[in-house]
Amino acid sequence: MKHWRMEEMAWDRFDPAKVDPELVPSIKAAAMVERNGLDYAAYLNGVFADDPDFRQAADNWALEEVQHGDALGKWASLADPSWDYAAAFARYRAGYKINTEADASVRGSRCGELIARCMVETGTSSFYTAVADATDEPVLQAICRQIAADEFRHFKLFYDHMRRYLGRENLSFLQRLRIAAGRVSETEDDELAFAYHCANLPPELAFSHQDCLAAYLSRAISFYRYRHIERSMGMIFKAVGLPPRGRLSGLSARLAWRFVQRRQRRFAARAGSRQEFALAA
Ligand SMILES: [Fe+2]
Ligand SMILES: [Fe+2]
Repeated sequence: MKHWRMEEMAWDRFDPAKVDPELVPSIKAAAMVERNGLDYAAYLNGVFADDPDFRQAADNWALEEVQHGDALGKWASLADPSWDYAAAFARYRAGYKINTEADASVRGSRCGELIARCMVETGTSSFYTAVADATDEPVLQAICRQIAADEFRHFKLFYDHMRRYLGRENLSFLQRLRIAAGRVSETEDDELAFAYHCANLPPELAFSHQDCLAAYLSRAISFYRYRHIERSMGMIFKAVGLPPRGRLSGLSARLAWRFVQRRQRRFAARAGSRQEFALAA
């Protein structure tokens, strides 16, 4: 059951004067990835074929993800009435495929799959919290608060199932850590970069992974404040079995904060140096 419905949002409170144009391309890209939730559910249904409880949970989860995509897509269409959400998503779907026929997790185990899902929900929960804190536009703020709450519940959902499988599969701490770190580093793979491409660039422009990644991440990271990284680190620690609050978590958060700020500057420099690319967006 969904915790909120996009029809109930106060869309008439949309205030174009409060739209930050820097936010719009990231919201359009996020809408693509969120809207693709049904394919992820199909993949998870294959991986957890004999676990009806989890399959049901995954189907419900996907409906919430699709709603995230539709709400963000609708908001981006208000912010930029020339944007065609359906056409952008059709391009994304045609070019980015998830293996919906899989019968085993690409992470090597079900527990590993659930740890990877926890990392994704950590990322989305922090991203939408950061956007809600960064924007003054009331509708986007309200949507992002609702989505961030969903993402945190999703983290909890996958975490609880992960604990169940941990007893059976006996993954070591190092295995859990490796899977978690691997999934976090995949942020720089094609999924978000290609979503940025389809959502923001004309179809005739060839996809450039590095340019799209730089354009997306330089903006997305700039919305983060230290508290968002600190909270994410607590969730990552919890997922791999470490105390979420404490000296090690605090130290890791400070290191991660420095790291993401450096990445942001590097991506911003690349995005800035590709003026014709920036103009096309
Ligand atoms: Fe989502
Ligand atoms: Fe989610």
